[in-house]
Amino acid sequence: MGKVAVGVAALAACAVAGVVVGRRVRSRRKWKRVVGVLKELEEACETPVGRLRQVVDAMAVEMHAGLASEGGSKLKMLLTFVDHLPTGSEIGTYYALDFGGTNFRVLRVQLGGRRSSILSQDVEQRPIPQHLMTSTSEDLFDFIASTLKQFVEKEENGSEPSSVRTRELGLTFSFPVRQLSIHSGILIKWTKGFAIEDMVGKEVVGLLEAALVRSGLDMRAAVLVNDAVGTLALGHYDDADTVAAVIIGTGTNACYLERADAIIKCQGHLITSGCMAVNMEWGNFWSSHLPRTSYDIDLDLESPNPNDQGFEKMISGIYLGDIVRRVILRMSQESDIFGPVSSRLSIPFILQAPLLAAMHEDDSPELKEVDKILKETLEISEVSLKVRKLVVRICDVVTRRAARLAAAGIAGILKKIGRDGSGGVAGGRSRSDPEMRRTVVAIEGGLYTRYMMFREYLHEALNEILGEDVAQHVILKVTEDGSGIGGALLAAANSSSGVDNVQLL
Ligand code: BGC
Repeated sequence: MGKVAVGVAALAACAVAGVVVGRRVRSRRKWKRVVGVLKELEEACETPVGRLRQVVDAMAVEMHAGLASEGGSKLKMLLTFVDHLPTGSEIGTYYALDFGGTNFRVLRVQLGGRRSSILSQDVEQRPIPQHLMTSTSEDLFDFIASTLKQFVEKEENGSEPSSVRTRELGLTFSFPVRQLSIHSGILIKWTKGFAIEDMVGKEVVGLLEAALVRSGLDMRAAVLVNDAVGTLALGHYDDADTVAAVIIGTGTNACYLERADAIIKCQGHLITSGCMAVNMEWGNFWSSHLPRTSYDIDLDLESPNPNDQGFEKMISGIYLGDIVRRVILRMSQESDIFGPVSSRLSIPFILQAPLLAAMHEDDSPELKEVDKILKETLEISEVSLKVRKLVVRICDVVTRRAARLAAAGIAGILKKIGRDGSGGVAGGRSRSDPEMRRTVVAIEGGLYTRYMMFREYLHEALNEILGEDVAQHVILKVTEDGSGIGGALLAAANSSSGVDNVQLL
């Protein structure tokens, strides 16, 4: 081989090596950028126990403010007029309509008259057609009434026609409602992606009853309640130590039993027992101590309700997957570790909570589930194990923050009612309060019940905040179907046929 040829070969080899090295350097640089994005996310989502305690305090303070006057806080602290809870003495057949998430359910519950003797229950679940979420109130309620009618006809087929009295229904309507009484209320605003404009400011039960008349179904709504209130009712029916209820599903909220004299804005309303269930609408809670990221800010700005439901947007099922989607999109735009930027990454809410949970909890060595979801849902294929691990890490950071904030919310309620071992907002009692009573919080919602990692992080944070001594007295009890069955129980307890009710205090 001549000198020239050797020189050319050497040059070519150098060029190839240069390309390889250049590629490596570029790829390392890209990976560094991605790690930077992850680090930034981790830092912005940090929830050390000190910060959580600040959130607890802020929650308790805002609860006071919301109880003092209408509009006193972003926490609405809505009156429910539920000042008696079911006792177990309720007898008869009651219906419930549970409306407020991805699905709506109709139920028929038979009560036997002894505590916890729900004789039978029939349930039918239907997804809410997407177009009805933004249509008119008439379309929505006609759809609900006709589903209810079919259900009633099917259930009562063959049994005695209920000609003796009008059927009674508990309407569980899980949006912020300003109650006028226990069986009427005005929709304040929509949440969770609903936007039926003509309905805001309207009385909800009137709209349902008009649709029932149109459909020819003889039924009246004995109560209008929120899902958190229904869950509290069922929780209390099963366990008299239940003092609060929390929903962590598509949306999030909490309600609890408050002393009548602490509800300052309620003066003038007659409360026959010593207290009332208060619907906090905690999804709208806000505090400067909440760890907010640029993804939260963008999500909020692009949502149908900007500046609203800030706490909910960091915690609940409808939003968590979307935060993760936004992080992956940003990483994908800043590097090619996910291949060319998939157009699917720009579709809002494409990554729903069950997918997030499935990726987060994938324990296969190759992270097969992550791979499948990236491929099938986001159309991202052929990513390395390292990148799949990164996706799991993003899910972990976002979910952990959500669960820990929910725990802080619960601790805030316990603080407000003096069940956190510290003697309430005023302070005073020692943390190892010997009189700390058994305290049950009823919980419902798929994020808590079906997402193990979320649940574990929540419990861990509650223990950290309260300390083991106090936390052992606090029981979080899954109260399945509380929103529906609780609605039927409250309908029974407030039925026109009248039954005894339990005094709350
Ligand atoms: C609503 C609440 C409801 C919660 C859980 C929130 O978006 O504002 O009224 O209780 O979702 O369903």
